Amino acid sequence: MSRLTARELTLAYEDRTVVHELDLAVPDGQVTVIVGPNACGKSTTLRALGRLLKPKHGAVLLDGAELAKIPTKKIAQAIGLLPQSPVAPEAITVADLVSRGRQPHQHWWQQWSDEDERAVTDAMERTDVTALAERPVDALSGGQRQRVWIAMALAQETDLLLLDEPTTYLDISHQVEVLDLVRQLNHDHARTVVMVLHDLNQAARYADHLVAMKQGRIVAEGRPQDIVTANLVREVFGLTSVVIPDPVTGSPLVIPGAPWTPVTPPTPQNTQAPASRTDVAGTGPKATAPPRDPADTSRTT
Ligand SMILES: Nc1ncnc2c1ncn2[C@@H]1O[C@H](COP(=O)(O)OP(=O)(O)O)[C@@H](O)[C@H]1O
Ligand SMILES: [Mg+2]
Repeated sequence: MSRLTARELTLAYEDRTVVHELDLAVPDGQVTVIVGPNACGKSTTLRALGRLLKPKHGAVLLDGAELAKIPTKKIAQAIGLLPQSPVAPEAITVADLVSRGRQPHQHWWQQWSDEDERAVTDAMERTDVTALAERPVDALSGGQRQRVWIAMALAQETDLLLLDEPTTYLDISHQVEVLDLVRQLNHDHARTVVMVLHDLNQAARYADHLVAMKQGRIVAEGRPQDIVTANLVREVFGLTSVVIPDPVTGSPLVIPGAPWTPVTPPTPQNTQAPASRTDVAGTGPKATAPPRDPADTSRTT
């Protein structure tokens, strides 16, 4: 089942179309991750799913109704969106920004409820920003600020959560914390999540449903273990890689580069490997005499 779907979605900036007739059914109660090279239209798609961008053709449907025909407040009660580069109002404090996540739930007769207070406190604790509550957002580090934005999106307590590269600026431990948090929200509260991630291995590890995009189109979608192959990585990212099962999770693990293939095929004039090849291969001196891949007929020596 899919509460949120895109139907023949075409998205453009002025005359430039960047997403072409995209069909997507976001699986309810699952974590969907969108991957793809820079500028392929991931953020654009996510913004349209959250109604920040109006389709040129086609539509986004929430519970069968076109987003364009649903009142803004109703959408905000159902869909939380963290854009890729959100901009905070000047001089706003952390607590105030997170509290803004509650706006869709407030009424003219009650500005602030216990429920709002609980949601904000909870969101700040989960994202580890409670200690920053009174600090101005514009005086925080990139990573702290990112966690505050995530807190705001969480405080909105929507069934659908759209996150555009939520791990940007975060150090590795906070990246894992945020991704674990997303999974926990999904697991404990059956939240449906769509996020854009640029790290393919994190995507493969955290996605129930993976969507690979290229040049404004979906190239493949499905369970990571069903779709992530070296061929897909080459098709989508133009990258040679080896895909092995992650020894911890069993999900596909993409090892970039092909250590046994010289970056520059040796010729009689150039038998010395470039220095960088050793880095790519990571196999030290052995890289200068790589084992021959029997399937590789491109080498002349
Ligand atoms: N506000 C905008 N105005 C004009 N072009 C834009 C705008 N935002 C994005 N684009 C262009 O649309 C294309 C897709 O961008 P985007 O969806 O942000 O890519 P991704 O998130 O996959 O890196 C890019 O070529 C980008 O330059
Ligand atoms: Mg983007």
